[in-house]
Amino acid sequence: MSMRDVKVCLLGDSGVGKSSLVMRFVMDQFKPALESTIGASFMTKNLVHGDKTFKFQIWDTAGQEKYRALAPMYYRGAAAAIVVYDVTKESSFHTVKDWVKELHRHGPPRIVLAIAGNKCDLEDLREVSRKDAKDYAEEIGAVFTETSALTAANVPELFSQLATKLPSDVEPANQYRPRSTINIHQQSPERRRRGCCGGGGNSAANSTPESQAFR
Ligand code: GTP
Ligand code: MG
Repeated sequence: MSMRDVKVCLLGDSGVGKSSLVMRFVMDQFKPALESTIGASFMTKNLVHGDKTFKFQIWDTAGQEKYRALAPMYYRGAAAAIVVYDVTKESSFHTVKDWVKELHRHGPPRIVLAIAGNKCDLEDLREVSRKDAKDYAEEIGAVFTETSALTAANVPELFSQLATKLPSDVEPANQYRPRSTINIHQQSPERRRRGCCGGGGNSAANSTPESQAFR
């Protein structure tokens, strides 16, 4: 079975639930009082899909405006980006469009996009219609789904849909390569190839919460 490294980053307004989605996907947990992310955080999770195993290397960015300028460090070299909004917050959907424009201008040329409307459990508070969001996603050729980190609805599906859209011949430039963002020490080429956190040879555990960067 082949193993593919997939660097993916999550973008979107503060409070839309990016970290909660990652926690649901990686650990199948939901913590109601999660702290707002500082800088970014990194986790990995393997997903078996068909005859392939995808090793998702997930950069969960901070949505607060003051961290805005850091985003290029996380989407650079990413094979995929998940742009998240909160279905109960119209303004967060506008921010999605800003991120898509930025990714089109400055992101990796063949980046696969997904739009996730999170908190779909809060139907009574909905401000963004599913149809509007779906139409927009279709227009830009992005994967679309409405998710709930709380109930787990569509969370694994989001990542597997993304996996199916990845081109099979990922260019080396689109593969995960830690750069100046986190590797303070020079790494040997072998180690660099496997990723910064020594992913190779690790046991059966297929989900590894890893360090918080930029503390
Ligand atoms: P930043 O780190 O500041 O960018 O925010 P974030 O996008 O990572 O949001 P976070 O995951 O911290 O969630 C913000 C708040 O929304 C928390 O109180 C979560 O418990 C809540 N939340 C996240 N996902 C859901 C969901 O699917 N449903 C509901 N009802 N609440 C959610
Ligand atoms: Mg967060």
